[in-house]
Amino acid sequence: MSIHKEDIKSLNINSFIKMKNNNEKITCLTAYDYTSAKIIDRAGIDIILVGDSLGMVMNGYDSTIPVTLEEVIYHTKAVKKAVNRAFVVADMPFGTYQIDINTAVENAVKLVKATEAAAVKIEGGKEAAPLVERLVNAGIGVMGHIGLKPQSINTMGGYKIFGKNGAESLIEDGKALENAGVFAVVIEGVSSKSAAEITNNLNIPTIGIGAGAGCSGQILVYHDVFGIFTDFKPKFVKRYANVAEIIDNAAKTYIKEVKSGVFPDKDHSFE
Ligand code: KIV
Repeated sequence: MSIHKEDIKSLNINSFIKMKNNNEKITCLTAYDYTSAKIIDRAGIDIILVGDSLGMVMNGYDSTIPVTLEEVIYHTKAVKKAVNRAFVVADMPFGTYQIDINTAVENAVKLVKATEAAAVKIEGGKEAAPLVERLVNAGIGVMGHIGLKPQSINTMGGYKIFGKNGAESLIEDGKALENAGVFAVVIEGVSSKSAAEITNNLNIPTIGIGAGAGCSGQILVYHDVFGIFTDFKPKFVKRYANVAEIIDNAAKTYIKEVKSGVFPDKDHSFE
């Protein structure tokens, strides 16, 4: 086995506990392809999640429900190839871990073996703890996901904010996952006060999305944060760039120049 210089610098599950204890925020973004992952890894992002949000932003699905294990494997392989430092987590899509624990372990093993992702993410609170324990015992890193669980959209009755009437049951979820062995937990769509309370009650880091400033870190979807996906913008999304607009302008110039014969010119041709 050869150890590359880059491997030595790469983050692992202990890095995130240290960051939480040092009050250093953990930065996370999703990515689904080689080029995008390379840019944010170079920029210094801590965790890259190959989320099942790929269903919407890469494939145009209406929800994460149709995403398959094969799709997550395909995208995670591309991301892993690009990354030197960040910790890569692959989402377990709907249907790959809900049937029974043995099937779930089999699918998680398949995902990690094919992609070399450092961990998988599953949605679920206390009910997911027995599965987390089995996965961790099998040597698979696990990230939890509580609060708004997009894979349960059909039983939640739509997207809504959790924890408005207290954090008690979410803290129980977080503790059950922590005891089962997750290295971190995503808190999605939870009131800021409850998310901060969950964070203060856990030893593991919490990664918020639509959960205010009191979490140990933050995650957003790549296409939202860089203004590539512009169909709609949830309240919790901050756009740090307007890439769709830049591409739109550049595409129009390219079309104009090719149509008019301005491009290719001498500088971009071989004598
Ligand atoms: O699929 C995804 O991108 C996610 C994050 C938004 C947490 O689950």
